Amino acid sequence: MAASGKGHENWSSRSAFILAAVGSAVGLGNMWRFPAEAGENGGGAFVLFYMFCVLLIGLPVLLSEVLIGRHGQSSAPESVRRLARDSKAGEGWSILASMGVFAAFLILSFYCVVGGWVVYYIGVFVSDLFQTGVAGGAFDGRAASDVEGLLPGLFGNGGLMVGLNLGFLAVTMFFVARGVSSGIEWVAVYLMPLFFVLFLAITIYGAFTGNFGDAVTYLFTFDASKLTGEVMLAAVGQAFFSLSLGVAGMMTYGAYANRDTNLGETSGIIAGADTAVALLAGLAIFPIVFAAGLSASAGPGLMFQSLPIAFQAMPFGSLIGLAFFTMIFFAALTSSVSLLEAPTAWMFEKFNMSRAVATLIVGGGAAVLGVLSALSFNEMAEFYPLGFIPLFAETNFFDTLDGVTAKLFMPIGAILTCVFVGWIADAKLVDQENGLDGALHQLWRVLVRFVCPVILSVILIYGIFG
Ligand code: TRP
Repeated sequence: MAASGKGHENWSSRSAFILAAVGSAVGLGNMWRFPAEAGENGGGAFVLFYMFCVLLIGLPVLLSEVLIGRHGQSSAPESVRRLARDSKAGEGWSILASMGVFAAFLILSFYCVVGGWVVYYIGVFVSDLFQTGVAGGAFDGRAASDVEGLLPGLFGNGGLMVGLNLGFLAVTMFFVARGVSSGIEWVAVYLMPLFFVLFLAITIYGAFTGNFGDAVTYLFTFDASKLTGEVMLAAVGQAFFSLSLGVAGMMTYGAYANRDTNLGETSGIIAGADTAVALLAGLAIFPIVFAAGLSASAGPGLMFQSLPIAFQAMPFGSLIGLAFFTMIFFAALTSSVSLLEAPTAWMFEKFNMSRAVATLIVGGGAAVLGVLSALSFNEMAEFYPLGFIPLFAETNFFDTLDGVTAKLFMPIGAILTCVFVGWIADAKLVDQENGLDGALHQLWRVLVRFVCPVILSVILIYGIFG
């Protein structure tokens, strides 16, 4: 680790910061949530609007968040407070980051549930490797419906769901307790590049064997009539979720960035890599969905049911399946680590406790909340905590947490961030951090001051009430 002179550790190099931030961004949001949301929101219109959101809203907000973090050199709420103080503005602005820290905690609690499913599938492919051997496809001789049935089978087993969830959370806690550079960087630096290559290979293979044409048409045909307020809100939410925005995550990581890192450039790399992986995931999963006659709107189960079917037909299927789900596990881990890091950093700074103790307290809270999410797919499937709100009618605990964070906390957090960085914070201080000049700098300021807050407010109101 490198000393920053400010009493906390920094990323050990510029590329390590980029990889860790990419590691935070690339996760289940890309492989699991993006295809599920795209399918539930009708494909093309959602996907193209999502890309529009990444470029016009996500990217400027991302830069705003990391620059707050690097200026403040602290946990997210403290970083906002420091920038406010240095700008002679009210320190109450830190509420935007406090809300974010709380939302990150909520996301962590259900994120680890899905992380648990990934662990389950690793187990499935390991045992399949012993049964069917290395050479042939996975699940030799078993019907496709059998393979699809693995996930409902897991859902039916509440004890296993909770156990896997807690297991995944425990691994996350282990890395966060070890600290930024020794724990988190290692996974990001060594495993993320490997993941990208394997993913590309699987997508290319799928392009030749699945129903690639239908998938491309489905994902990229723009049908304006499908672009409702709800679809737009879902697309913004997905852009934020995928880029780890709106809930203090990137502010937290920005604080660990070195002074000589160009934040503008880095933000572009992060957003580019993240979007590329999401689109790759769509192009890997939907050809199989269409070829196998699965339903595109299958939601959260989509990735877990379509990919194993693809591996069934692939040579070395069990081995590739095992490798792939292992990679997803690591991608998910670098993200869950960032989700836990945001509230943990706030806690140990605020209460002056050790990193390990703070990790235990936050992780313990997430464990309790996570049980309710883990049981949402069977035992508590009919429990609709916010059922009285139309946007969350017939929405179980898991989906309610997911919806509230992505559709309310993230857009609201982002609006406040834009107003703070664009209007409240001292422009000189902001410009010292952002690494932009010339026309790009002008463009960024216009986006942050006007375009983002206005578009986000409209989408938010239209999505909730429209
Ligand atoms: N972006 C991650 C993913 O796509 C999830 C995530 C990590 C996240 N940290 C975050 C989402 C902070 C919101 C805020 O899997």
